[in-house]
Amino acid sequence: MPDAHAAFIAGLPKAELHLHIEGSLEPELMFMLAAKNGVRLPYATVEDVRAAYDFSDLQSFLDIYYAGAGVLHTAHDFHEMTRAYLERAIADSVRHVEIFFDPQTHTDRGIPYQTVVRGIRSALEAAEREQGLTFRLILCFLRHLSAEAAMETLEEALPLREQIDGVGLDSSEVGHPPSKFAEVFARARAEGLPAVAHAGEEGPPAYIREALDLLQVRRIDHGVRSEEDPELMARLRKEQIPLTVCPLSNVRLRVFDRIEDHNLRRLKDAGLLVTVNSDDPAYFGGYVNANYQAVAEGLGFGTEDLAELARNSFRASWLDDDAKARHLADVDAYVERWRG
Ligand code: ADE
Ligand code: ZN
Repeated sequence: MPDAHAAFIAGLPKAELHLHIEGSLEPELMFMLAAKNGVRLPYATVEDVRAAYDFSDLQSFLDIYYAGAGVLHTAHDFHEMTRAYLERAIADSVRHVEIFFDPQTHTDRGIPYQTVVRGIRSALEAAEREQGLTFRLILCFLRHLSAEAAMETLEEALPLREQIDGVGLDSSEVGHPPSKFAEVFARARAEGLPAVAHAGEEGPPAYIREALDLLQVRRIDHGVRSEEDPELMARLRKEQIPLTVCPLSNVRLRVFDRIEDHNLRRLKDAGLLVTVNSDDPAYFGGYVNANYQAVAEGLGFGTEDLAELARNSFRASWLDDDAKARHLADVDAYVERWRG
């Protein structure tokens, strides 16, 4: 029944909670911006770019992803990239987004922090105003850089604290445990900024524990390796700590060999609050609905499972309780109409 699932997924109201805005930069826009800004790309055509997206692990992806972000120069460039993502998300029946940006990728090559934030926010605000999409914006620290550099980035962001809704931690995981950033996250917490962190994508379950205990995160991004630690699994279930899982990303970065091998079904059956997201859709071959479709086809998720993933996306969001209740009622009404 793959076509029936595709139609169900297409109209299912959902939130996306794990999306790196720089990972939504499609090769076509990358080429346009490279030409406009006089940036030389090591590819002749858009097809060559897509052919280069054959990754062996997280680092092999990050090298290409950081190079691609080098075409972004002006606030308008960041606006256009964000606008393009939001258009795709709205087409996928996404009603609320919580997106990441990596300021250090840009400030380290001379682009001012405010240029980045202004461009991204102006597109988010336009989508909210014109299409009713709601959003949160999460500043991510690059964990392969120093804790001092992360603290400097936070200090640069704090004078305009209201521009961001929280902080996160991404980039090369292994060798860069959450504990490295305990002080930075304590400072963010003192400023009232909630936190998330990538953990247990390639790194061990101990990194998930550190993210919870030392960084006091509200969600774990990925977290698929929690399965190796039964005590941690029990805690994630008991405390209903959300995992923002990215199935197509995990296959493209070889966390799992095939979608059929992904552990999302087992995590869900164990009672964990799992959500499905696209991570870096321009690089991993699909936006959020393609990820829902992948778990429908590869893991046998039926309409009730898919609806529960959508409900979880709102439960795990940073929306207030009233907004959550409205979205959950919308999902229920959609499922009812579908059954009817
Ligand atoms: N930055 C962008 N995508 C990422 C991922 N999947 N893991 C860690 N850092 C990232
Ligand atoms: Zn990610």
